[in-house]
Amino acid sequence: MQHAKITGWGKCVPPAVLTNADLMTFMDTTDEWITSRTGIKERRICHCNFSDMAIVSAQRALAAADLDPKDLDLILLGSLTNDSLCPNTASIVADAIGATNAAAIDINTACTGFLYGLHIGTNLIKAGAHRKVLVIGGEFISHYMNWSRRDVAVLFGDACGAVTIEATEDEVGLLASRIGCEADAKYAIQITNLGSAYSRLSDEFLYVGWNFQGQEVFKRAVKAMAYACEEVLKQTGLTVDDIKLVVPHQANQRILDALAKRLGIDADKVFVNVDKYGNTSAGTIPVALAESLEAGLIAPGDYVLTASFGAGLTWGAGLIRWGDRVTPLRESTAELPHCNQTALEVLAPHIARYNEHAKRNS
Ligand code: UT7
Repeated sequence: MQHAKITGWGKCVPPAVLTNADLMTFMDTTDEWITSRTGIKERRICHCNFSDMAIVSAQRALAAADLDPKDLDLILLGSLTNDSLCPNTASIVADAIGATNAAAIDINTACTGFLYGLHIGTNLIKAGAHRKVLVIGGEFISHYMNWSRRDVAVLFGDACGAVTIEATEDEVGLLASRIGCEADAKYAIQITNLGSAYSRLSDEFLYVGWNFQGQEVFKRAVKAMAYACEEVLKQTGLTVDDIKLVVPHQANQRILDALAKRLGIDADKVFVNVDKYGNTSAGTIPVALAESLEAGLIAPGDYVLTASFGAGLTWGAGLIRWGDRVTPLRESTAELPHCNQTALEVLAPHIARYNEHAKRNS
C-alpha cells in the first residue's frame, strides 16, 4: 500500500514583530488582558505579499527534502488571504519555484487549510493519483484586519509554512485523518464587506468587517478537535499514551489547555508557540511542525497528533507517523525581501484608515 511520507518542511515568519505593548499604543487593550485570555505576547506583521511568504516556505521545504521542484506533481495551498482573486496563489508559487509539472490548487478553509491540504494530498498519493506533493498553509491576515476591533485584532498574526510529501511503501506520514465542518455555525467567524455578496455601491465596501463570536468558537473548537483526535486514534488503534507530541492549531493557550485536558494528555506533550506568533490561521500547524523539528521534539518513528478548527466552522485532526529523518537534507538560502520598518510603521496607514472609518460611523 502507498503512503505519503513527509520529507521536507519549512516555515517563513516575517521579521516585523508587533507586541502587546505596540497594540496598546493605538488600541484600548492591555498586555494583561491579551496574555490572560489568549497566551499571546507578540505576533508578526507581513511587509510584502502573501505569496512571498508562501514561496520562501516552499523553497525551504524543497531544500529540506532535497527535492527538484520539477518533480512536484501537485501544489495545495491553504489560505484565505491570497494575493488576488485571480490568479490563485498556488499558481504564483508554482511559477516562482519552477514547479513546471505541478497542478496548483488553493484551498480556502481558513485555519484548517493546511490540515485539509495534508489530508487531500496524502489521500491522492495513497490513491496513486500523485507522487510528490507540496502542501502550504499560511496567512496574511493583518492585510484584512479591522484595526478598530480590539476583540479580533489582538488575536492574529502573519506567517506561512510548507511540507513536501512523497509516495512511499513505508507505513509513515499521515496514517489517519478526519475532517469535517459545522456549517450551521458558518457565520460565527465572518469577514464582511469584501466579496460578491456585498454591494459594490455601498460606502462600506472594502472596509473589512469581522463578525466574531469568540466564546461560541471556543466551545465548538475544543469539542470538535477532541472528537476528531479520538476518531484518528480509533482509526489507528493507538492511544494518547502512544503520542509523542501534539502539534495543534495555535489560536489560544486556553483552547490548547482545554484540548489536552479533554484528551487526557499531558500539557507538556502539546507544542505551543501561540505566545510568539498569535493565530496565523492556516500557517499555525506547518510553522509549529517546523519548530518542533528544529527543537528536536520529534524522533524517527514518533507518532504526532495534529488538530485544527477554523471559519466554516471547519475542523479536523490527523495522526502522523514520522519517517526516518528529522533533519533537513539541505538548507535553503531563500529569504523575504528586506524590511526596514517596524510593525507599527508597516501598519500605520492601515490603522489610520480604520480608525477614521470607525470615527465616521460612531
Ligand atoms: O482560529 C479560529 C479563530 N479563533 C477563535 O475564534 C478563538 C476562540 N475564542 C477565543 O479565543 C476567546 O473567546 C477570545 C480570546 C476571543 C475572547 O476571550 P473571552 O474570555 O471569551 O472574552 P469575551 O469575548 O467574553 O470578552 C470579555 C470582555 C468584554 O468586555 P465586557 O463586555 O465584559 O465589559 C470585551 O469587550 O473583554 C473585552 N475585550 C477586551 N478588553 C481588552 C475584548 N477584547 C479586548 C481587548 N482588550 N483586546
